[in-house]
Amino acid sequence: MNKITVGIFVGSLRRDSFSKKVAKYLRDLLAEQFDVSFVEISSLTIYNEDLDTEGMMPDEWRRFREEVKSLDAVLFVTPEYNRSMPEVLKKALDVASRPKNDNAWNGKPGAVVGVSPGNIGGFGAGQHLRQAASCLNIFMMQQPEAYIGGISASVNDDSVSSESLQSFLKHFADEFAKLVKDHLCSSGA
Ligand code: FNR
Repeated sequence: MNKITVGIFVGSLRRDSFSKKVAKYLRDLLAEQFDVSFVEISSLTIYNEDLDTEGMMPDEWRRFREEVKSLDAVLFVTPEYNRSMPEVLKKALDVASRPKNDNAWNGKPGAVVGVSPGNIGGFGAGQHLRQAASCLNIFMMQQPEAYIGGISASVNDDSVSSESLQSFLKHFADEFAKLVKDHLCSSGA
């Protein structure tokens, strides 16, 4: 039997991104059970309906939509920009949501992790992502919620260094793994 595939989408392009460190930590935890990959979203052309026709469609849109469709589950790890999700993530959601009636996200189990050096842990980004996810019919894990604030004190140059955050992320990954398996089992996938 093929391994369940999980795609991770990171809402930061920054080289030393805190969100990337958290995402890599989760990747390593989830890789014990799943086939986990980071999905490239930085190069996607911003969505324009005029381009969404045969002959005009950017190749990266086609590739990206196929890649999203091939995933069994999706995990978003994101900073907050101005109390919302960064544009790179919104663009990815929009591109794979079209063409109409061919939403690549449809029916997938998912989860979101907000990351911030500030106190509110990316709550605004997480909530906006959940709002879009309900429109896209992504079955988001409700609990535990992950709004990771004060992140600069919890990482070192390479990874997550705080034991309490490591322990929370382990709990989060275990619950997400359960949700993914239960969802795929009940949907007959
Ligand atoms: C931010 N940042 C930020 N932080 C926050 O907690 N709430 C916010 O609304 C914002 N808004 C915001 C807008 C823009 C345009 C930038 C560039 C930054 C700060 C942000 O959390 C910080 O730069 C993080 O380090 C970004 O995450 P990565 O790149 O480290 O993953």
